[in-house]
Amino acid sequence: MPKIVNSWNDWDPLKHVIVGRCDNGMIPPEEPASSEKVPVDSDMRGMWGLRPLETVEKGNAALERLVKILEDRGIKVDRPTPLQWNQKIGTPDFTNDSMMGCMPPRDVLLTIGNEIMAAAQSFRSRYFEYLAYWPLMEKYFEEDPEFIWTQAPRPRLTDKSYKHNYYDESISIEERLVRTANKDFVTTEVEPMWDAADWMRMGKDIFVQHGLTTNRAAMDWMQRYHPDLRIHAVNFPGDPYPIHIDATFVPLRPGLIINNPVRPLPQEQRAIFEANDWQIVEAAQPAHDEPPALCYSSVWLSMNCLVLDPKTVVVEASEVHQMEQMDKLGMNVIPCDLRDAYPFGGGLHCCTADVYREGGCEDYFP
Ligand code: NVA
Repeated sequence: MPKIVNSWNDWDPLKHVIVGRCDNGMIPPEEPASSEKVPVDSDMRGMWGLRPLETVEKGNAALERLVKILEDRGIKVDRPTPLQWNQKIGTPDFTNDSMMGCMPPRDVLLTIGNEIMAAAQSFRSRYFEYLAYWPLMEKYFEEDPEFIWTQAPRPRLTDKSYKHNYYDESISIEERLVRTANKDFVTTEVEPMWDAADWMRMGKDIFVQHGLTTNRAAMDWMQRYHPDLRIHAVNFPGDPYPIHIDATFVPLRPGLIINNPVRPLPQEQRAIFEANDWQIVEAAQPAHDEPPALCYSSVWLSMNCLVLDPKTVVVEASEVHQMEQMDKLGMNVIPCDLRDAYPFGGGLHCCTADVYREGGCEDYFP
């Protein structure tokens, strides 16, 4: 029987990947932790509903362009089965008028070796998103006897999971930055909550952004669940909306990381990288001044790239500065026109989730 699932990092040669779909994508109604996470100047504030069909079609076309690039290189691509996301949901602990159906599989699925774990996300509107990936998980489970299919403890997401009145329209960006520096976020620590896109896998070590979507309890839970791995909390005080690590701190190959220049890793957290001769270089400036319309993310999706192997990287085609920097860093760059998918939840790294990369669990930080 073939081994289907294996991936320990974000740079070993990629052989099999999941690429998301934009179908039925929603702007979800406001919920306890959502307004804290949507930038104050976002054009999405105060509105919710199905995203316009035309944008869904354009987003899907962008993802098809990525699929073609990958398949042309012999990489197997699987796709999720989106639900009708504009349905009311409820559990014994909460109800919500709609789901979100955010496109990125990277937020939901964390691959660690032969295991794929569905995350414990803090948005109520994303509570059932994992179901879009279950048909694939069932298939991998049937075909690969070594595949470990897991679901992190489901958070209850009661009102106790969030700090209420944490956010008030009057708080300034400066105040937000103080909160990030003080590790004071909208989620509480009553239960583990996390998005998989906050976890940067580097073999035996996983670096995890403590921010609006992942709390310390999640890291504590994972360290107990995977005692052989080392879970490190990282924090980027330059980010007023710290959500997902992959537009902030992105490894390209062993020994090399690009770091968002307005969100530098604090000096005291650099020690482990310096002690092991890793180079942290400032990422190039984005080519755009603004994200596209109805987009949750910042212009720094410029650095949200997909590494296919330690010498090859896919970069968004309009990001000329980032492509040039990658080239100078010795990478072969494959451009992909993906900007129309950004409003559905992110860039090239976000819209994928690893199924199989070559290689094993190396210790890069002995
Ligand atoms: N929250 C990040 C995006 C992460 C993919 C940003 O907006 O820069």
